[in-house]
Amino acid sequence: MEPDFWRERWQTGQIGFHQEEVNAHLAEHYAKLTGATPPGTPARILVPLCGKSVDLSYLSEQGEQVVGIELVETAALAFFEEAGLRSGVVRSANRVRANDLGIEIVIGDFFEQTPAELGTFDGVWDRAALVALPPELRARYAPHLASFVKPGGRLLLVTFVFDGPPVGPPHSVSDDEVRALFSPFFALERLGEHDLLAESPRFRERGVTSLREHLWLGKRL
Ligand SMILES: C[S@@+](CC[C@H](N)C(=O)[O-])C[C@H]1O[C@@H](n2cnc3c(N)ncnc32)[C@H](O)[C@@H]1O
Repeated sequence: MEPDFWRERWQTGQIGFHQEEVNAHLAEHYAKLTGATPPGTPARILVPLCGKSVDLSYLSEQGEQVVGIELVETAALAFFEEAGLRSGVVRSANRVRANDLGIEIVIGDFFEQTPAELGTFDGVWDRAALVALPPELRARYAPHLASFVKPGGRLLLVTFVFDGPPVGPPHSVSDDEVRALFSPFFALERLGEHDLLAESPRFRERGVTSLREHLWLGKRL
C-alpha cells in the first residue's frame, strides 16, 4: 500500500481501525506476550504499524519498554497528545519519546527500520498490522519482523479471515498463509477465534458474509 494512502487516511480521519479501548485480546493474553521475560524485568515490546493505539499505553502501564513504528507523523503525535503525554515528550530526528513512561514511536517505514538501530525485542504485538498489508508486503513483513525478535521472544498476532471481494485493507489472511509466513521463524499456536460479523457493519456493507478474528501466539525459534 502506498504511503500516500495512509497519509490521506489520517488527514481525512478515515481511521475506523482505531480502538478507543485497550484491545481485549491483548489484555487477556498479555502474560503470554511477556512470557519469555524474567519476572520483574521490563520486556521490550515492539508494536509495528502502531497508529495511535492505546495499547501502547497499556503495555507501558504494565511496566514494559514500548517501541511503536508508524509511517504517519500525525498519528504518532496524536498518540502522545491524546494520552496526555505532550509535556514529557522529546522529539529527536525520526523519534518521539515519552521518557518517563518508556514509550517511543519511530516515525518511518517499518521496512526501512533495522534491529541494528532499534535493538531486538522480547515481544511483538501485531493488531491490524499484518492485515493492513497487501500480499507482496506480507511476504516481506514476516522475515523482517522476525529479525527484531530475540530467540524465545513472543509474537501475539490478530488476523481477520473473511469471504467476499478481495478489497482491503484490512485484508483476509488465511491460517495457511500465517503458517507459511511465520513458521520458518516462530513455533505457532492458535489461541482462539471469534465471530465478528454481527459487530462489523462496514464488512457487511462490503458483501462479507463470514468474518472471524484469529489469535496467534508465536515463540521465536
Ligand atoms: C490499520 S492501521 C492499524 C494501527 C494500529 N495497529 C491499531 O491497531 O490501531 C495500520 C497503520 O500502519 C501504518 N502503516 C502502514 N504502512 C506502514 C509502514 N510500511 N510502516 C509503518 N507504518 C505503516 C498506517 O499509517 C496505519 O496507521
